[in-house]
Amino acid sequence: MLTIYLLGLGILWIVYDHLLLSPLSKIPGPPLACATRLVLMYYEFTRRRRRWIHQLHVKYGPVVRIAPDEVSFANWDAVKEIYVSDGSGYDKTSFYHLFDNYEHECMFSTLDKTPHGERRKRFSDRYSKSFIMQAEVMDGIRERAEGFVARCTEKAGVAADIYILLHCYAIDCITRHLYDPQGMRSLTEAADLMTVKELLFTDNFRESYFQYYFPDLSRLLSRVFSPANRLRLLAARTLNATRRSDISNHTVLSKFKSSSEQLETKSIASELLDHAIAGIDTAGDGLCFLLHHLSLPASASIQEALRAELTEKEGTPIDGLPYLDAVVKEGLRCFSPVPMSLPRRVPKGGRTIAGAYVPEDTIVSCQAYTLHRLNADVFPDPEEFRPERWLKKEYVLERNHLFFAFSTGGRGCIGKHLAMLEMKMLLKEVYSTCRTHISPEMTASMEQLDEFITTRPIDQKCLIVFEKVI
Ligand code: HEM
Repeated sequence: MLTIYLLGLGILWIVYDHLLLSPLSKIPGPPLACATRLVLMYYEFTRRRRRWIHQLHVKYGPVVRIAPDEVSFANWDAVKEIYVSDGSGYDKTSFYHLFDNYEHECMFSTLDKTPHGERRKRFSDRYSKSFIMQAEVMDGIRERAEGFVARCTEKAGVAADIYILLHCYAIDCITRHLYDPQGMRSLTEAADLMTVKELLFTDNFRESYFQYYFPDLSRLLSRVFSPANRLRLLAARTLNATRRSDISNHTVLSKFKSSSEQLETKSIASELLDHAIAGIDTAGDGLCFLLHHLSLPASASIQEALRAELTEKEGTPIDGLPYLDAVVKEGLRCFSPVPMSLPRRVPKGGRTIAGAYVPEDTIVSCQAYTLHRLNADVFPDPEEFRPERWLKKEYVLERNHLFFAFSTGGRGCIGKHLAMLEMKMLLKEVYSTCRTHISPEMTASMEQLDEFITTRPIDQKCLIVFEKVI
């Protein structure tokens, strides 16, 4: 009896402390979520975190407390402070250790900014815009975009499942950039296609969240149950490639190999594997949502406008096509492949973020999904797909500030230029030669399903018919 009484008192004290005494108590948020993290965990485990947080922002405004020690923000002041201050913003939280590979950190999973910056410097030139725009890199991507169109037009009038084929395209492009000639050819080789299917259709979501919240128990259980691993084949391929010496000069691996300060093989492989996953889970899904949207009957005029630009400006460098650029940006705004919160830890001494004081060690974040929708002055009718909004002069600065698809600052996406090129090249190949429409057999839902920070179409299928126009 005494135990129950003491337990009850303990719970009451925690609730009182979280709701009234905490320095975060002035920040609005649902009282139950401010009292216990279980509410946020419930939305995480049921894959509804992103939408729940978005609804809270719609209700409470740009600053919302989503757990006793976690706050979500949705304006430029917060983005600037959390992700850009001192170059790369605040340090990451231990959530990112979920992205270690072969039990080694990679740049993405390195929490503190100093070691992160040192690692990034080792190979960042391989992702600079001038490097990506070289013929050696561009030709490889063009060849794979042509390969994608060839696969989709093999049998006239027969639908192609672009969900799989676009991930093949993304994996073939990124693994070439990382370790050509050991890169994959999943658009044409059956064995490589198996690797793509393992990546796409093995679901480690709940195990990984469980590992984040209960690391010891998860370690114990994994010894007994050994869950399926979606990275098994790709991880083996990447480690083998890392050990090879016959690697092309334009690759990221060759940069590692030519460095005067050598890293361990598994540390290099961890980096390469992370880039491979980062390149597949993002460009593949982003293109799938975008091509699906462009194939809807309501988007016929967008396809025509795109085709007109591609025909009239034939021969223009890919970066000189403003409508193509606007279509890709609008795709990334509406269907951000990384739409979820990117968590960071408030530094010692606490900080004032977007007018709210937040004590040290609080978890803070912004999510692209909300930044791309909440401010209706900058993004009027935010649910509408309108490429033209990117061509307007009004609010140009604000629009670019709130565009968070690649994050920003020193920890923003290193693959941004490569990803933009892959997306533009693919749309150029498709819409200069074809019209696309949704197959009548397409019953799969394209609703966005939350992963950890990324998203994918819920039914993992997208049937599109490609009709050749030239
Ligand atoms: C449309 C495609 C892409 C999108 C939307 C995207 C988005 C992002 C975002 C939002 C981040 C920051 C994540 C965070 O802070 O938690 C990020 C980081 C990163 N991205 Fe991408 N990405 C894309 C494609 C790529 C590609 C093709 C690569 C290939 C190398 C890549 C490699 C990385 C890496 C290595 C990081 C970590 C950067 C660091 O820690 O400094 N991404 N990406």
